Amino acid sequence: MSSATEVSLSEGRVIRVVGPARVEVLSGAVLAVGSRYPAGSSFVVHRLRSYGIKALSPAKLRLTLGDGSRVEECGEGEEVVDDWLSASEYIVRRCLERRQCSVLVVGPPESGKTTFTAFLANRLREAGLRVGVVEGDVGQEDVLIPTTIALAEVSRPVIWLRELEPVSLRFVGCTSPQYCYSESIMALRELVDEAARAGFDAVVLNTDGWVGSPSGIEHKLAIARWVRPDVVVVTGEDVYECLSRSIGGQAEVVRIRRPAIVRERSREERRELRTQAYRKYFSRGRIRRVKLGGVALFGACFLSGRPVSRDELAGALGLSDSELERVLYSSRVGDTLYVVASGELSIPRASPAESGRIVVLSPDDIKGALVGLLGDGMREAGVGIIWSAEFESRELSILTPWEGEIRGIVVGRVRLSENFEEVGRVVRCTP
Ligand SMILES: Nc1ncnc2c1ncn2[C@@H]1O[C@H](COP(=O)(O)OP(=O)(O)O)[C@@H](O)[C@H]1O
Ligand SMILES: [Mg+2]
Repeated sequence: MSSATEVSLSEGRVIRVVGPARVEVLSGAVLAVGSRYPAGSSFVVHRLRSYGIKALSPAKLRLTLGDGSRVEECGEGEEVVDDWLSASEYIVRRCLERRQCSVLVVGPPESGKTTFTAFLANRLREAGLRVGVVEGDVGQEDVLIPTTIALAEVSRPVIWLRELEPVSLRFVGCTSPQYCYSESIMALRELVDEAARAGFDAVVLNTDGWVGSPSGIEHKLAIARWVRPDVVVVTGEDVYECLSRSIGGQAEVVRIRRPAIVRERSREERRELRTQAYRKYFSRGRIRRVKLGGVALFGACFLSGRPVSRDELAGALGLSDSELERVLYSSRVGDTLYVVASGELSIPRASPAESGRIVVLSPDDIKGALVGLLGDGMREAGVGIIWSAEFESRELSILTPWEGEIRGIVVGRVRLSENFEEVGRVVRCTP
């Protein structure tokens, strides 16, 4: 059920709209996520989001409100639109002085990073600059899908980064940066370079919310060290203190306020948003078969190892004939022997003939794994899901919307169900 209501705003007034809602400007103009919406224009606030809307002149709005949505007055100090406007104006001036500029956005989860990234990108675009956004929050990746970092151009007003089309991506393979520490830094660095080569005047980089521990802060400092942004924008007092002290004047560090009242998302809702993103991306996919011999393989030790024959395996592990029947594939990498088997194997803890480590896997351990797909020159082309593995013929079936050549596969750490829900981790080189 939805209901329509009209609201008149005096100039300068700010209201908070909690979605799902459609906002039409009947007269005057408003500012939403840094963009000016004049009479006759409209925008949508998603079910799981809220925004502060400011009247730039006396304005009349028609709001179509869906289930659970609301529109409310903002109390003293709750809204941040003016604070974000002045921070953005300052950064826009800095960017206009330079040939190219980059801005890194850092802060805790739910503190407005994604929204400020869009806000600033909109302001930079309205100032006449060609603007790119790099969505570096691997867990809540809004431009493409979680486990990737993507670059998009902002060529029209944007409310949420999910409205953007990716122009380039890097597969980092995890949804928590602790597990893809260096990949996340490399990906940001490479996409900033790519944006510069593509002629973007300004690029705004969003980051994950891992800032609540010393290692999280160090990860953000490492990003700053390798990306070398002109400006670092920080939401939240403690993080600001820490970063500005550490960066020591080598980049400008600007603090912005976080909105006091927001549509917070529960763990389940964040999960649902991730599933939605996977579903949208893979709905255009088809199953492709890839011969393992002919492609580069990363992060899948047991598939890259030296194949071990049945006799060698029998000698090494002392398996019975019926157990050997269940072995689908085995290989050796360095000190580790990998055995892929359907069903349990009774492998002795210490096999007299096998001094190294023994890792037993089931075919289900890689089924559903998200994989990065590389095209020519190891360039990131798209993302796939391992649908099934045929060990005899050394082939993988991969669901992906990528249509071009597949020259390489990077196995990530996330596994999806057939409904695109995250169901666990992938066993890669070590369980
Ligand atoms: N000015 C604002 N007023 C009210 N809610 C806001 C405002 N800016 C952002 N939000 C909402 O706050 C929540 C968190 O914002 P988001 O930008 O997604 O944060 P982060 O990227 O740090 O997790 C979202 O629901 C967003 O719609
Ligand atoms: Mg975010």
